[in-house]
Amino acid sequence: MNKKITFILEILLFIVIGVGLFFVINGSPFGNNEISDNGTEANQPVDVSKQSVQTTNGKILVVYFSRTGENYSVGNVDVGNTAMMASYIIDYLDADSYEIIPVNSYPNNYDETTTQAQEEKKNGVRPQIKYSLNDIDFYDTVFIGYPIWWGDLPMIVYTFIEEYDLSGKTIIPFNTHEGSGSAGTYNTLKNKLVNSNVIIDGLALRGSKARTSEGKEETINWLKGLGY
Ligand SMILES: Cc1cc2nc3c(=O)[nH]c(=O)nc-3n(C[C@H](O)[C@H](O)[C@H](O)COP(=O)(O)O)c2cc1C
Repeated sequence: MNKKITFILEILLFIVIGVGLFFVINGSPFGNNEISDNGTEANQPVDVSKQSVQTTNGKILVVYFSRTGENYSVGNVDVGNTAMMASYIIDYLDADSYEIIPVNSYPNNYDETTTQAQEEKKNGVRPQIKYSLNDIDFYDTVFIGYPIWWGDLPMIVYTFIEEYDLSGKTIIPFNTHEGSGSAGTYNTLKNKLVNSNVIIDGLALRGSKARTSEGKEETINWLKGLGY
C-alpha cells in the first residue's frame, strides 16, 4: 500500500516538475506580451537599424527642415529658427522627430543660399535627402515644419512629401518666415496631399520670434488650441 502511494506521489511530482519546466521554457501563460506605450510588444527586440534618425516612442512625428549658418535678422546660428520651433513641439508632445537633411548642405552665406534656392525653385529641383525615414507607417500624425523660401516651401520639402506615403495621416504644418507668413503653403500641402487630412490651421512665426520664450509660448498655445 505504502509503495503504491509513494509511486503515485512520484508520478504527481514528475507531472508538476514537467509542467513547471514547460512554462519556464515557453514563457508564462499569464501574459508577458504586454503592449507598451508605442503599441509594440514590450518584449520584442528593438530593431536598431531603424533608429538611425528617429526613435519610435509615440504616434506623432515632427518632421522639419531648417538651415544653420548666416540667416536673415538673427545672425549666424547653430540651430535654425524652424528647428527651435520644432523642438518646442517635440518636447511638449513628447513626439518623435525627423530632420530633413540635404545631401548637399546649403552655403553658410545667406545671399548664396537665396541664389541657390531661387535656382532650385525656378527649375523645380528636388534636392536629395541624406537619411531615410524607415517608420513612417507607424505614425498617425505628422507635423511638417519649414522656413518660407521664395514664397514657397523649400524644394527639399517637396522631395520629402513626394518620397513618403503620407496618405491617411493627419498632417499639421508649421513654419517660420520673415514677413510672408505661411505664404499659402498650408493650402499647397493640402492640394498636394489629397489623401491626407491636412490641417490648414498651421502656425507661422517670424524666425526671430521663434527663438524667444514668446515664440515658445505661442507654439504651445497653438498646440493647446489644436486639442493637445
Ligand atoms: C533661401 C531663402 C529664401 C527666403 N525667402 C523668404 C520669403 O520668401 N519670405 C519670407 O518671409 N522669408 C524668407 N526667408 C527667410 C526665412 O524664411 C526665415 O529666415 C526663416 O526663419 C529661416 O528658417 P530656418 O532658420 O529654420 O532655416 C528666406 C530665407 C532664405 C534662406
